[in-house]
Amino acid sequence: MDNNLEKIQVQLQKDIDLPYDELKTKYISTNGLLTLAMKAIASIPNDQKAAYGKGINQLKNSVTELLDQKKNQSLIYSPNNRIDPTAPFDVNTPKNDRPQVWDIKGTKHPLHKEVEKLVEIFQRMGFDVMESKQMDDDYHMFESLNFPVGHPARDMYDTFWTEDGFVLPAHTSTMQNRALKQSNPPIRVVLPGRVFRHEATDASHGHTFYQMEGIYVDKGISLANMKATIKTFLEAYLETDLEVRIQPSFFPFTEPDCEFVISCPFCNKTGCSTCGHSGWIELMGCGMIHPNVLTQGGIDPEIYSGFAWGFGVDRLTMIKLAINDIRYLRDSNLNFLRQF
Ligand code: DAH
Repeated sequence: MDNNLEKIQVQLQKDIDLPYDELKTKYISTNGLLTLAMKAIASIPNDQKAAYGKGINQLKNSVTELLDQKKNQSLIYSPNNRIDPTAPFDVNTPKNDRPQVWDIKGTKHPLHKEVEKLVEIFQRMGFDVMESKQMDDDYHMFESLNFPVGHPARDMYDTFWTEDGFVLPAHTSTMQNRALKQSNPPIRVVLPGRVFRHEATDASHGHTFYQMEGIYVDKGISLANMKATIKTFLEAYLETDLEVRIQPSFFPFTEPDCEFVISCPFCNKTGCSTCGHSGWIELMGCGMIHPNVLTQGGIDPEIYSGFAWGFGVDRLTMIKLAINDIRYLRDSNLNFLRQF
């Protein structure tokens, strides 16, 4: 090996404990030892060029190998060096032994990915998207939706209130009034957002979860349009044909009020644990928007009609991804999250 290359090789042995960044700068930056040695090939006599080239290659391999090793050591998700996420964080660890934030590969949370897929399907169907608020007021939570002050149906929602009278939305329907006022019909919009309920948690209930509201207003819109729209979307999302039916329910902001029910995509109506052995799954509330709600939104119910729905994104995601406990979606357990 060329004298100069040998010296660099020896130096590399001495530098073996240098941190990744320093090694990189010392060897492969513009003025790095390896870079300069590579450039020097031009001035090597022709009969020594082949041997020099071979030496350079050896050196390059050693540098790359060492850099790769260093990088893997600091990658939190490196299979060689999994960091125990439950281990207490030791603030006294020397900086270079800690995983560096820029080395931690972030990924999207499964719920986030599902919201993106849902939104994409609705966009393909011609819907606009508007995110819902995480703090709202009595008017949007109740009054604009035909729950006058003192209406008993207000008790359907266990809401969190702030001391100064604001409410954490218990459903994304809080956005209906804004969406109606925002533009003239035809109005087609979906409104994903976080909602909050003052509820005890169990495998199928969370105090914080995602909903996706949808509204469609135009002349001559009927329940048949609603059924076809929701069915089309669900079949696209669940990637299977479904039988659907609507059954009566109660919401002050719709007339008629419906529950949208689908045949169980897992057992094809033969009964399984996902559908509670009934063959059917009650998936969401929906209905024709109540004339009072349209009027509050500045839309004449004599001319226009529309439908609306609101479903739990967590619940739909659980069906799609076969997850049996809603709490997994909140726990930040890496073993669970890495599966998606
Ligand atoms: N907001 C209702 C809830 O969370 C769901 C719902 C029902 C939304 C009917 C709607 C609707 O838009 O038309 O319980």
